[in-house]
Amino acid sequence: ALDGIDLHAEIARLRKEKNAVILAHYYQDPVLQDLADFVGDSLDLSRKAAATDADVIAFCGVRFMAEVAKILSPQKIVVLPDMKAGCSLEDSCPPDEFGAFRAAHPDHISLTYINCSAAVKAHSDIIVTSSSAERIINQLPRDQKILFAPDKHLGAWLNRKTGRDMLLWDGSCIVHERFSVTELLKLKALNPAAPVLAHPECPAPILELADYIGATSGILDYALKSPEQTLIVATEPNIIHQMQLKAPHKTFIGAPGADGNCSCNTCPFMALNTLEKLYLCLRDLKPEIVVPEAIRLRAKVPLDRMLEMAA
Ligand code: 13P
Ligand code: SF4
Repeated sequence: ALDGIDLHAEIARLRKEKNAVILAHYYQDPVLQDLADFVGDSLDLSRKAAATDADVIAFCGVRFMAEVAKILSPQKIVVLPDMKAGCSLEDSCPPDEFGAFRAAHPDHISLTYINCSAAVKAHSDIIVTSSSAERIINQLPRDQKILFAPDKHLGAWLNRKTGRDMLLWDGSCIVHERFSVTELLKLKALNPAAPVLAHPECPAPILELADYIGATSGILDYALKSPEQTLIVATEPNIIHQMQLKAPHKTFIGAPGADGNCSCNTCPFMALNTLEKLYLCLRDLKPEIVVPEAIRLRAKVPLDRMLEMAA
């Protein structure tokens, strides 16, 4: 039914007509990154969503990110090209089990990674992103007992970095768990000068091989500032699009999975959003993100704390 429609032109028209802003995460298809008004990491996207004066936010990312936009900007219509764009970290942390975990540790505060449902945020004390977690933890008293959910790899890395002993929920990202230590060692042997840049959602054996560990925004900065001409990137490979746009003379190699190439490391949830679906969601203003008001008000408290403490 979409045959013959100039999707780019229609998206440009609808964006103006509906006073919409298009936000995209670095893991989105390059086609979506290129037409977004703003591309960023989870923290930057939350800040943009809180600050925009648009009437509609079309969120090219996964559902929890679009929910954050709605929680922070309830008067706006927030649409997601594909409502099935979830996240394995969110799936690994059902709200009722998380509530029971909290109840079992009443002397701990709950520091929760933004990659979770609105209902889990509603049970949390402070939300963090990978770019803000360390700074936020360092503002808490040394003897503060902390629960960290849902990413055990990010949590373990934060424990090592900050010298804390946070109790970790057993969740993980299916994308960052696919990198192969054996294949990465082979790639490093072929490119001995190339720094390895890794996201802290990677398991510890991959992080041990990294020269830089950080959120997507930090990885991108490091890649652009590094004097090296060839770099190895151990996170979702669509971020390489921004690197290539900004440093076309450099070579960026996606870290491999067990099959020796990086294409298996694409996030299947992020990949559900397409140009066609972005057009349809702007045209129809659906699927629309709805967060029940009682949950939204509770989830906003730990999100506002994040925005204050990360500032
Ligand atoms: P950041 O962009 O905050 O590093 O998040 C990475 C991620 O996995 C988002 O799903
Ligand atoms: Fe979730 Fe991992 Fe995909 Fe990010 S890359 S949305 S953490 S499954």
